[in-house]
Amino acid sequence: MLDIQKIRADFPILSRTVNGKPLVYFDNGATSQKPQIVIDAISKYYQEINANIHRGVHTLSQLATDAYEISRGKIQNHINAKFAHEVIFTSGTTHGINLVTNGFASIVKPGDEVLVSALEHHSNIVPWQMLCEKTGATLKVIPMNENGELIMDEYDKLLSDKTKIVTVNHISNALGTVNPVKYMIDKAHEFGAAILIDGAQAVPHLKPDVQALDCDFYVFSGHKMCGPTGVGILYGKEAWLNKLPPYQGGGEMIKEVSFEKTTYADLPHKFEAGTPDIAGGIVLGTAVDYLNSVGFDNIQQQELELLEYATKRLLEIEGLKIYGTAKEKTSVVSFNIEGIHPYDIGTIVDKLGIAVRTGHHCAQPIMTFFDIPGTIRASFSFYNTKEEIDLMIEALKKAQMMLS
Ligand code: ALA
Repeated sequence: MLDIQKIRADFPILSRTVNGKPLVYFDNGATSQKPQIVIDAISKYYQEINANIHRGVHTLSQLATDAYEISRGKIQNHINAKFAHEVIFTSGTTHGINLVTNGFASIVKPGDEVLVSALEHHSNIVPWQMLCEKTGATLKVIPMNENGELIMDEYDKLLSDKTKIVTVNHISNALGTVNPVKYMIDKAHEFGAAILIDGAQAVPHLKPDVQALDCDFYVFSGHKMCGPTGVGILYGKEAWLNKLPPYQGGGEMIKEVSFEKTTYADLPHKFEAGTPDIAGGIVLGTAVDYLNSVGFDNIQQQELELLEYATKRLLEIEGLKIYGTAKEKTSVVSFNIEGIHPYDIGTIVDKLGIAVRTGHHCAQPIMTFFDIPGTIRASFSFYNTKEEIDLMIEALKKAQMMLS
């Protein structure tokens, strides 16, 4: 069992007040808070080894390069990628997805099909729409049911020889549904289609094993897993990454440049043009170490308890409806209170120190499905407590009284 008070002491922001009340941070789906070890690692990088990487013979450049590549190796181990060069540093999940959709523009032809799930964040819809507009391919949607679960029978029917790539999140940001990605990956491969898994919401809660999953691409952001903003990872199978063209041209991604012809660097550098977020890349490794030291079994146990407790307590509130009741769910609860706009509730509970996200959560098609403008979303992390959930329930009851 986790010693939650000890864990909370690792996160300095958790002891601050907001609007004169102790902060209750339930917007972990948007970004996670950072432990002191991560904050310190950022300062340490700038204080001690700041230099550009892969470019200098001088000592600092080599120290920075080594730290960056050590971090790549940590991430490789963490997700169990076969090779370190299958781990590409990006600026975040959105960058990773755009890199892949850009590459597929040279693969996908008119008449081909791209399957996207009904549960996606806009960042895993819009780039695929842009790809289809550019290539003449057709975007098809894997539908969901009232519980917010993807309908696998419909998925099976949508797959065909025309399907070139499937894209789905591992966990839905808006509803918390954990999708049956292993099944979906195996099915896509039966039809010769590639598959990308958006792991942005999964990596704070679980350790993906990309070889066991056998996914072609797995993308995620550092900032949702206790790391800094501005850095993320695209994992791709070596064969796919070799097949895709570079995304951005620039320094560091080349072998040789002349005005007649440029040849590109080998993986992973082919996809890492320009000076990256060096500190971010290094410190993402620190964040991964931190999460592993807490332990994903412990994280999951704590978060499951929070999910069950929050669900039970929320349902005590009259007129409250939870959206997303999948059997496989992570620690996200999306809900509305009858007759009250989510934004108004969010504003009042903020005055009481409670940080939740309100709105469409960058997943408008899900809101359209439920015929609602948005929801209030409480997303829990392992450093949250049942006492904080009690504070949220009190705040919600107050808001309900004031607004109805
Ligand atoms: N995608 C993030 C969220 O769900 C920002 O809040």
